[in-house]
Amino acid sequence: MKKSEQHIMSTPKGDVKFRRGDDGDIHAISELTRAENLLFRSPEDVEILLPCYHVAESVATGEIIGCISAKMYGHDAEVISFRVKEDFLGIGIGAELLNIELEFLKERETVKRIFSLTTRKVFAGSFTKAGFVEVGIQMFDPKVVQVCSKCPKNVLVDGKHLCDEIAVIYPL
Ligand SMILES: CC(C)(COP(=O)(O)OP(=O)(O)OC[C@H]1O[C@@H](n2cnc3c(N)ncnc32)[C@H](O)[C@@H]1OP(=O)(O)O)[C@@H](O)C(=O)NCCC(=O)NCCS
Repeated sequence: MKKSEQHIMSTPKGDVKFRRGDDGDIHAISELTRAENLLFRSPEDVEILLPCYHVAESVATGEIIGCISAKMYGHDAEVISFRVKEDFLGIGIGAELLNIELEFLKERETVKRIFSLTTRKVFAGSFTKAGFVEVGIQMFDPKVVQVCSKCPKNVLVDGKHLCDEIAVIYPL
């Protein structure tokens, strides 16, 4: 069975179901994107991007405890909304979500590059283990740089650039 299809993983915190996001998940996903390092996605944003969302669901409670998605910029797919709830960190749910999203994106002919904008900490903990490498942001679709330039972190505070993110790419 492909990872991107629905499946269950046993974890020390109980069984976790991985599946495509659906209409009933929109509000829970939106709330999960209220996190440090993440761009908040309103329910309307999530609805538009829903075809690329995958979620992790606690089998015991039905709670959505993790999510991931992708946003297309031409042929470049940006991995977005990568989040796992605090109580479930460090038990492999993030790694599973990232692998699922990668498998899903690799199957799409329109996707020529898969990238993300992330912090060094998350790069070291998650992206590098999945095979991503650091690159310069200028190699992506100009719209990516445009969005980046409007980010609230793209400012100087006390002579320091507030942005702590790097661009990373998954070699296809
Ligand atoms: C990034 C994130 C989704 C990873 O989720 P996760 O389920 O903890 O990921 P994994 O369990 O696969 O662990 C990946 C690594 O994260 C690190 N980690 C992060 N938080 C941890 C915690 N509370 N306890 C233990 N390890 C933790 C570990 O180093 C782990 O590496 P290991 O395999 O060597 O143990 C999660 O930390 C998160 O939601 N962060 C906040 C939002 C964010 O920064 N998203 C990325 C934006 S690009």
